[in-house]
Amino acid sequence: MKLENKVVLMAGAGSSAPGWSIGKASCVTLARHGAIIVALDASLDAAQDAAQEVLKLGGKALAVQADVTDPTAVEQAIALANHEFGGIDVYVANAGIGKIGGVTETQTSDLDRIYQVNVQSLLTAAKLVIPGMVQRGGGSIVTISSVAGIRYLGYPHLAYGVTKAALIQFTRMIAHEYAADGIRANTVVPGLIDTPRIQKNVSSAFSKDNNADEVRNKRNQQVPMQRMGTPWEVANAIAFLASDEASYITGTELIVDGGLTGKF
Ligand SMILES: NC(=O)c1ccc[n+]([C@@H]2O[C@H](COP(=O)([O-])OP(=O)(O)OC[C@H]3O[C@@H](n4cnc5c(N)ncnc54)[C@H](O)[C@@H]3O)[C@@H](O)[C@H]2O)c1
Repeated sequence: MKLENKVVLMAGAGSSAPGWSIGKASCVTLARHGAIIVALDASLDAAQDAAQEVLKLGGKALAVQADVTDPTAVEQAIALANHEFGGIDVYVANAGIGKIGGVTETQTSDLDRIYQVNVQSLLTAAKLVIPGMVQRGGGSIVTISSVAGIRYLGYPHLAYGVTKAALIQFTRMIAHEYAADGIRANTVVPGLIDTPRIQKNVSSAFSKDNNADEVRNKRNQQVPMQRMGTPWEVANAIAFLASDEASYITGTELIVDGGLTGKF
């Protein structure tokens, strides 16, 4: 895919537990296609871990610690990326959080925080990266939603689903506003993906005693392909939408779910 020397700012580049997350696999996948990676994460260790994987391949990467909800930190990270690499061609909005629970269990403060990370952070970043993209004659924004943003998956995940739905429409709005400037904006909608965070964040929805095998088996069984997706399979979709191969694709969603949403 055509990503040679494209500067990619990957927000949420790390993994919230040891192993391969979507962000980390995306850093490596995009770098394999020639991209220069700015790995941004709230956790410095996680950002460095992702950047290290790119450097191991012989690629170029920079690790930056920033919380996507902190406009000053994001501005500083973008200034550093601009200074080091001359501008940002691709922004990937991958940082995302959630909390299991429905109307009764979800506090207003939960919704506020999840909204800030999953949705509001895109406004912060878009304001900062889009002017440079316009100046450079184009760019690509890829946001990472979830099938929970378009379907009910059998357990209450209210704030997560609501914010992931908002992210889809937010991305379409950016796509239309900036289509004439050569900026494309699209969303990847992953299904049930086997990343280390599932055990941490959603295991209670699948197993009363958080049994890892039970969680994995139940998630696998729900999918028509009889397995969860890998972070690499999501990373390939992100790389495609980021690349020039997707030059006529904007304002849309790419669902990567092994057929899951087709069941509903
Ligand atoms: N794993 C799945 O099944 C699945 C399915 C659909 C969508 N997604 C989405 O894909 C994305 C990545 O998921 P994952 O499973 O790889 O998650 P993960 O938790 O392993 O990785 C997310 C990374 O984002 C970082 N992060 C979180 N909040 C941040 C903030 N405020 N500022 C900066 N960085 C922050 C974390 O430190 C972590 O390194 C998320 O947006 C998630 O909602 C995941």
